[in-house]
Amino acid sequence: MAKTGPVGVAFIGAGNISKQYLDNLTTFPDVKVLVVADLFEEAAAARAAEYGIEVSGGVDAALNHPDVEIIVNLTIPAAHVEVATAAVRAGKHVWTEKPFSLDRDSGLGLLKEAQAAGVRLGCAPDTFLGAGLQTARRLIDAGEIGTPLTALTMFQSPGPESWHPNPAFLFQQGAGPLFDMAPYYLTALVQAFGPIAKVAAVGSTAFPTRTVGSGPKEGEVFDVEVPTHVSAIAQFESGASSHSVYSFESPKARMGFVEITGTEGTISLPDPNNFDGEIKLCKRGEEDWTAIAAEGPADGRGLGVLDMARAIRAGVPHRATGELAYHVLDAMVSITESVDSGEFVTVASTAPASEPVPVDWNPTAATL
Ligand SMILES: NC(=O)c1ccc[n+]([C@@H]2O[C@H](COP(=O)([O-])OP(=O)(O)OC[C@H]3O[C@@H](n4cnc5c(N)ncnc54)[C@H](O)[C@@H]3O)[C@@H](O)[C@H]2O)c1
Repeated sequence: MAKTGPVGVAFIGAGNISKQYLDNLTTFPDVKVLVVADLFEEAAAARAAEYGIEVSGGVDAALNHPDVEIIVNLTIPAAHVEVATAAVRAGKHVWTEKPFSLDRDSGLGLLKEAQAAGVRLGCAPDTFLGAGLQTARRLIDAGEIGTPLTALTMFQSPGPESWHPNPAFLFQQGAGPLFDMAPYYLTALVQAFGPIAKVAAVGSTAFPTRTVGSGPKEGEVFDVEVPTHVSAIAQFESGASSHSVYSFESPKARMGFVEITGTEGTISLPDPNNFDGEIKLCKRGEEDWTAIAAEGPADGRGLGVLDMARAIRAGVPHRATGELAYHVLDAMVSITESVDSGEFVTVASTAPASEPVPVDWNPTAATL
């Protein structure tokens, strides 16, 4: 018999970002957080206690719980596919943090396993479901900038080692400014333009090592394994194009810059790493921006898990799909290949379009 009522959720990964997810998912009545698990059971127990969640433990505590339907995979990038695959094999739907995988083969393998098992895959970012990017989408869909043609995006910062207590993974395969930040920007661009057809990029690494800047590991030096500055262009199947900078090398932080220009105007999007923010529009013939307030839900990380939970009960597609995340991963791998080869790289995968989020979609309503 089909299950009814709130959807049971277990977390695997009780690190830094689990707090934001727990803040939200413990307040959405349509999901029920039943387990917090981690490789380090003490970390899981501490996090579970903070939020009054009864069960904590190792990965099996999440996978074997009979009432858990969705595993929220908040492990480090190198463990995403392994943990997600274990969850699929346990018959669970999976929400995974970005990036979807580190390479194409393992990402495709995960998509195939989930399809064969009849379980869903969802993947961050879910920021594009928030009020900021959805309001921008409504304006674009309403023709406010005409046909979208080109985009400029910029993320540059000194790097996350100053604030993240455990930052080495952010400079290893699966991270760096490209794999860590481009999912937000590329997902926003794919929402506006559709799938990416080909990419070209250059990249560089300013420093071979970095130093932890805060927390118990402050002062520890670690190796940098990936480019820390990437400049990429993309051409979309529609013929539109974008130019993006992803950098952990700039003393001056400038992030969240996304401008999309169409035949009739330019729209400035809010930071695609946020759920809210101001939209600005400049129509052809005007000199100044017109500010437009974002409308809709902006509750934060966990909206994608909630959307998946409600979609499971309704038997309809969820929005932040594994296929979309795989396409973004494919584009990022292609950008890396282009950095190495100096050639354009074709992006073979495609991304399904997602339904817009209704402006009155209410995460804190009990609907199940
Ligand atoms: N920190 C942020 O601001 C942020 C923001 C958005 C997304 N993310 C993403 O969230 C994910 C986690 O980031 P974080 O900052 O919380 O990292 P973190 O290192 O603070 O936490 C990761 C946790 O996963 C656990 N873990 C690692 N491998 C595991 C395995 N095989 N099985 C079970 N547990 C395992 C670790 O013990 C750790 O507790 C990453 O993919 C990151 O890209 C982080």
